[in-house]
Amino acid sequence: MSKHTPEQLQIFLDIATEATLAAGAIVQAYLGKLETVQEKGRPGDLVTEADKHAESVILEVLRRHFPHHSILAEESGQLGDSSAEYLWAIDPLDGTTNYAHQYPCFACSVGLLIDGIPQVGAIFDPFHQELFRAASGIGATRNRLPIKVSQTSELSQSLLVSGFAYDRRETTDNNYAEFCRLTHLTQGVRRSGSAALDLAHVACGRLDGYWERGISPWDIAAGVVLVEEAGGKVTAYDGSPLIIPSGRILATNGKIHYSLSTELGQITPLVSF
Ligand code: IPD
Ligand code: CA
Ligand code: CA
Repeated sequence: MSKHTPEQLQIFLDIATEATLAAGAIVQAYLGKLETVQEKGRPGDLVTEADKHAESVILEVLRRHFPHHSILAEESGQLGDSSAEYLWAIDPLDGTTNYAHQYPCFACSVGLLIDGIPQVGAIFDPFHQELFRAASGIGATRNRLPIKVSQTSELSQSLLVSGFAYDRRETTDNNYAEFCRLTHLTQGVRRSGSAALDLAHVACGRLDGYWERGISPWDIAAGVVLVEEAGGKVTAYDGSPLIIPSGRILATNGKIHYSLSTELGQITPLVSF
């Protein structure tokens, strides 16, 4: 239950929408025209001029409307107090690897945590022109029409999605074993390369569940609100309350949550490749 009225949350949601749509226009404009693709640190962790330009546009919108709010932005880092009442978590371009290869699966994600809890989220997929929005207690939409999670109740009938963090070559906790085991138990496991879209697609029922480790707050802040408001469930792997800084998330339609959580708790890592 939010301490804010639906009208107040709607204002935050409208500004999140303004920011993500503006970023999406920038991202779409650079598609196929990139001049600089750089690695940020780990192999495969890319940043382009589109990420930076889109982030600057989101920051401009948020600062204009909410000059006293804090922001956690993927490319700029922490701006303001991380424990502030209002913390925007933004990923200007989620799916940069896809984007750099012109694989059309990427999105701009703007979420708002109020007292540490995600309560407002807007995700825009500019290639497919799909806008996903949600705020606590006021529902979730895709292109302004209400969305709901799927009804799939058996893991064996489910279609899942997951991802692999950039540290995957440095740790045996790399999600490879989980991906293999769940591929075996379900109709399939996809790896889209955009956590924000993974959550949006669970919210609108295209996918039944999503899990990932090594994920950052900006990847999931908006998507968590979407899944919850579409009737789904979001927790830690073991079903306990989600702790965003842990980097581990399990998000499902609710019906397969227990089965998926149980499987994730029983898997032992694959040790070598
Ligand atoms: C990545 C994507 C990917 C996930 C990675 C993220 P980026 O974000 O969301 O799906 O598996 O863990 O880092 O780097 O494209 O913004
Ligand atoms: Ca991301
Ligand atoms: Ca990003």
